[in-house]
Amino acid sequence: MNESLTHNVTEAFGACADARTKEIVTALVRHLHAFAREVNLTHDEWRQGIEFLTATGKKCDGIRQEFILLSDTLGLSIVLDDINQHHEEAATESSLLGPFYRDGVKESGFGANIAQSEGEPVFFHGAVRDATSGKPVANALIEVWQTAPNGMYEGQDPDQPEGNLRGRFRTNADGAYAFHSIKPTSYPIPTDGPVGQMLVATGRHPMRPAHIHFRIDAPGYAQLTTALYSADDPYVNSDAVFGVKPSLVIEYAPRENGYDVARDFTLIAKERA
Ligand SMILES: [Fe+2]
Repeated sequence: MNESLTHNVTEAFGACADARTKEIVTALVRHLHAFAREVNLTHDEWRQGIEFLTATGKKCDGIRQEFILLSDTLGLSIVLDDINQHHEEAATESSLLGPFYRDGVKESGFGANIAQSEGEPVFFHGAVRDATSGKPVANALIEVWQTAPNGMYEGQDPDQPEGNLRGRFRTNADGAYAFHSIKPTSYPIPTDGPVGQMLVATGRHPMRPAHIHFRIDAPGYAQLTTALYSADDPYVNSDAVFGVKPSLVIEYAPRENGYDVARDFTLIAKERA
């Protein structure tokens, strides 16, 4: 094994003027070389690897982004999430934004119902608080989105009414929020491309456990992107994109005509972010 090969390649980037670019590209070279050496990669295997990456690129268009799916299914997206989140114990943990967030949803009042689909009713409520002081955060913007019982988001499914199962709310003076919806459903990530083939070839399933996405913005606080995962979902311990964190798993408590979910969120002030 000739270690000077790797040294020669990283040295070739010696003149790179941007220090961060140089750091990233030379680390990438070192890890790529180490990977090939660790598995004794053959020419034929790397040709297959290049074919896979080529197919992944060809699957991408204005809507479909197969490389994000690859990043998600290899766990790289959640590693980035982990690197970049605020590891303050009292703060709500983050989770993946995913591809189905949509801007421009109209704002609803306290306690509104965001479901225009039939399903098991759920009342979601709680408060947004400062992670350090515990004080309520008034006028925080809460955006939520989730799947319908057929496992599809509005936007994927022409049969769902515009804005179905998407909500945009403001917390009141007590930091409280409340809305009605239905229980979210597990769904498969797209399997009709190279990433789907990779999952099949490696004996993995494509399912994400049922969850509801939250994005919370408040003046003076770092934005929180997270999701709440259903404890009773069969895929809660095997999320295809590794987004589940124990602190984000919730129980749906039975109540009259449905379920109740009480959940607070805690934000990190910007100066500490
Ligand atoms: Fe999702």
